[in-house]
Amino acid sequence: MTDTTGAPQPRLRLTALSHGAGCACKLGSVDLAEVLRHVPSVVDPRVLVDAGTRDDAAVFRLSADRALVATTDFFTPIVDDPRAWGAIAAANALSDVYAMGGTPLFALNLVGWPREKVPFEVLGEVIAGAVEITERARCLMLGGHSIDVLEPLFGLVVIGEVHPDRTLTNAGACAGDLLVLTKPLGTGILATALKRDALIEAGMADAIRSMTTLNEGAARAALAVGVSAATDVTGFGLLGHLGNILAASKVGAEIAYEALPILSHAWNLANRGIVPGGTQRNLAAAEQVEWAEDLTPTDRILCVDAQTSGGLLLVVPPENEAALLAALREAETPAAAVIGRITAGPVGRIRVTRQLQ
Ligand code: CO
Ligand code: CO
Repeated sequence: MTDTTGAPQPRLRLTALSHGAGCACKLGSVDLAEVLRHVPSVVDPRVLVDAGTRDDAAVFRLSADRALVATTDFFTPIVDDPRAWGAIAAANALSDVYAMGGTPLFALNLVGWPREKVPFEVLGEVIAGAVEITERARCLMLGGHSIDVLEPLFGLVVIGEVHPDRTLTNAGACAGDLLVLTKPLGTGILATALKRDALIEAGMADAIRSMTTLNEGAARAALAVGVSAATDVTGFGLLGHLGNILAASKVGAEIAYEALPILSHAWNLANRGIVPGGTQRNLAAAEQVEWAEDLTPTDRILCVDAQTSGGLLLVVPPENEAALLAALREAETPAAAVIGRITAGPVGRIRVTRQLQ
């Protein structure tokens, strides 16, 4: 096996065993709505957050000052290096706890393994990569469940804790608040390029560094400064996850394309037609988006690219903007970019222009 920077490709290519890459293989938002119809809505005073607001994790109150945060995430190989895949999957699963303002406590592995095709040593590497990240998050790995399947799958169930009055949720964004993104966009495009041999894994080094960075520092900054809403950017892309905030908060938004942090090579690869299926589904679902005429089709693709282990999207009142940016820089988040603002509406409408007026 190669490391993530070495030129020789491993003989066994994990990405060749998967039909889609990372969170880009998640069901589209239209499909998800169909699935969620079958999940009964719960009315119970202990349930503080459920699927109703399309939030990142469920929050269940145990007492006046303690609540559990529970989430799960798993996907097919996004890179060929098994350790990096495990690390990315773990950082991605932990992210939903941070996106709720919580602290991870313990995790369980979810494994689907084609035992005939891929040796168990490779799975050992995947788990080792995940444990490196859970240890960094001071989150205990306590067990899991594995099945024999055709395509490799890996992810975690993460249980965390949050103070019931200090959750970060999709609801709470107000007109005039600013939007801040803490990691660059483009991981879906780069991972698809790797899978299609249009990029070697060394070209993914920045993306891998970003995807294995915990959103812990960003969440800590958000909690210390005070934000009105938050989520993490994953499979539905920037505009999809922003849409969830807008629906839950009953507001609209403006995004400045030129302010978006974007991984190098991503635009050029997308411009050559290397676009994940999940990203195409996101673009088709972006009905509430009003695009400025000078944005090219490739620019638009970048705005909806399905991210894996993306950054936090933070909604901050203007008076806290400077403090938040300082705290994010202090936490050394991969990006700390003001990318737009919340508007009064129409509810759910996102206007994307080159620069904010
Ligand atoms: Co999330
Ligand atoms: Co998630």
